[in-house]
Amino acid sequence: MTPDPNRLDNLLVENRKFAPPEKFRAQANFNDESIYETAAKDPEGYWAKQAENLTWFQPWNKVLEWDAPHAKWFVNGKLNVTYNCVDRHREGPRKNKVAILWEGEPGDTKVYTYDMLGREVDKAAHMLKSLGVKKGDRVTIYLPMIPELPIALLACAKIGAIHSVVFAGFSSKALHERISDADSELLITADAGWRRGGLIPLKANADEAVVDSPVKKVLVVERVGEKAGVEMTQGRDVYWHDLMKQAPSTPFPAEEMDSEDVLFLLYTSGTTGKPKGIVHTSAGYLLGANTSMRSVFDLKDEDVYWCTADIGWVTGHTYIVYGPLSAGATAVMYEGSPDYPTRDRFWEIVEKYGVTIFYTAPTSIRTFMKWGTQYPQSHNLDSLRLLGTVGEPINPEAWMWYHEHIGHGNCPIVDTWWQTETGSAMIAPLPGLTTTKPGSATRPVPGISVAVVDEEGKPVEPGNGGYLVVTKPWPSMLRTVWGDDERFKKTYWSQFKGYYTPGDGAHLDEDSYVWILGRIDDVINVSGHRIGTMEVESALVDHPSVAEAAVIGRSHEIKGQAITAFVTVKEGVETSSDLVDQLKKHVVEKIGAIARPEEILFAAELPKTRSAKIMRRLLRDIAEGRVLGDTTTLADPSVVESLKQQYKDSE
Ligand code: WT7
Repeated sequence: MTPDPNRLDNLLVENRKFAPPEKFRAQANFNDESIYETAAKDPEGYWAKQAENLTWFQPWNKVLEWDAPHAKWFVNGKLNVTYNCVDRHREGPRKNKVAILWEGEPGDTKVYTYDMLGREVDKAAHMLKSLGVKKGDRVTIYLPMIPELPIALLACAKIGAIHSVVFAGFSSKALHERISDADSELLITADAGWRRGGLIPLKANADEAVVDSPVKKVLVVERVGEKAGVEMTQGRDVYWHDLMKQAPSTPFPAEEMDSEDVLFLLYTSGTTGKPKGIVHTSAGYLLGANTSMRSVFDLKDEDVYWCTADIGWVTGHTYIVYGPLSAGATAVMYEGSPDYPTRDRFWEIVEKYGVTIFYTAPTSIRTFMKWGTQYPQSHNLDSLRLLGTVGEPINPEAWMWYHEHIGHGNCPIVDTWWQTETGSAMIAPLPGLTTTKPGSATRPVPGISVAVVDEEGKPVEPGNGGYLVVTKPWPSMLRTVWGDDERFKKTYWSQFKGYYTPGDGAHLDEDSYVWILGRIDDVINVSGHRIGTMEVESALVDHPSVAEAAVIGRSHEIKGQAITAFVTVKEGVETSSDLVDQLKKHVVEKIGAIARPEEILFAAELPKTRSAKIMRRLLRDIAEGRVLGDTTTLADPSVVESLKQQYKDSE
């Protein structure tokens, strides 16, 4: 296990408890404690009951077919995800309700009612069809946080095409890799994106990414205009607005999809160099998203809900697009950064729209703490009634700060543990029922069963730590890894028989609350983003000067973890601060800015065991300045001494 041992020490003294405020409990969607027991006794019955909140074209005839590790949920059911997210609301009293309140970085705004959104989605679906997109085709989407992004997702889902969104912060090489793996013939991008007043050259990146790829057409949204200076390639590139103008304004009939038809792929980092295309299907995924909006987020028709994530990650898929829209919410969508143009941007948005439910990441909360309370204090935040966090363990101090300075002591906090693979929130409080403890995601939501187990797969007693596992299949679980079912079985289902292994360590307290300790595999979590150490190592070794590289995550005050790279250079290469800069730049080009190492240390040799394995734990200890444990298995102990010395010198 590699989670930060200091964290466990902190946790053991954390005993503050916060019962749901009476006022909240009284109005909560889920306010009957017996739901936990009912769902635990009959999870399939629970999910079947929740599935009544979706609109089906044809009912299923079996809730679950479980041929471990392959699941089929709602067998033979037929539905369309976009019909559920948009059209069914257009047919009822929510027709003219606001669906999306969009706030652009430069302060431009757009408002879409469900009816307006539906018309745009239908036009976009006609447009995709005119480009030859059919059910089952993969469409890669590389867009900033503009309304065309959810519209593109919903248009794909309406046709039955499989979308694969690539976060706009990824490099052209990372985009190329994901396009090729998904075998997409269409790429949707923008001329450029805004970022703190500057431009992200999305079209230029896309131009590089599509070389030697399956892409035949590039659909370009104009976000920035002339300033972006894009070059359009005749016969390949077309403007979104040109085709939208030509698209018929008639309704686009929703494709009837099987419950198990693939809805989307989303690439995520693993322990090997190659990102995995996580496969989610239609009914089960939508059900997980929809149910958690009502249970964990206590969504009501009157709410103004804001999730600050980017749709490029799973949080945005589930809690900006599919969850809120399927539940008929009014949701804020923001294009920009929290500090542009000023550090009160988020609080200004909360006040402006009267946000009632606010969902963000611990790394942002720590940043706000550092900036100081004057920024939230300069705005009226009284509209807020519920707060959420996701992406990494939240340290109790940050939880308390969030509770006091954003929630003013009145708002329950839902710390939601889940993953790209789980599709929706798995361990989280139900805000009207669960007593929270700062730093714990508390207990699994109804219908989900988890355990903390030891090396043998036996559940640990309360008070102990081990591996977190999910013990029963759930509707929004990943179905496979795109094109690599073996990897799916090996990565998630081989460690403990019959259990899903997420790769996190956890501690179970005396009330059987779960405290997530962090990843126990070679994956690091930088500002809530998952980065494989192998990916960064491969990027470094790809540089002509590098012989070998070892990458670790060390604790970082704001980011949670930061990337430290230990590098040995090839014979004859001079190490210099210039080379450090070059190597950092190289990683950014290969992967994206999120993978930029915080520091790079040159070593004559990397510490290895006698069986030639790099001792990462040792490197982590060196990087965190901790006392070193057992180094007796080390082939050459002097390597450690010289590394330690160097690390000190570099500080
Ligand atoms: C990993 C999944 C799910 C959306 C964001 C990240 C960590 C996520 C929590 C939480 C402690 C958390 C885990 C997990 N994580 N939420 N509330 N408390 N850790 O999705 O990129 O698939 O990463 O993020 O380590 O395995 P992802």
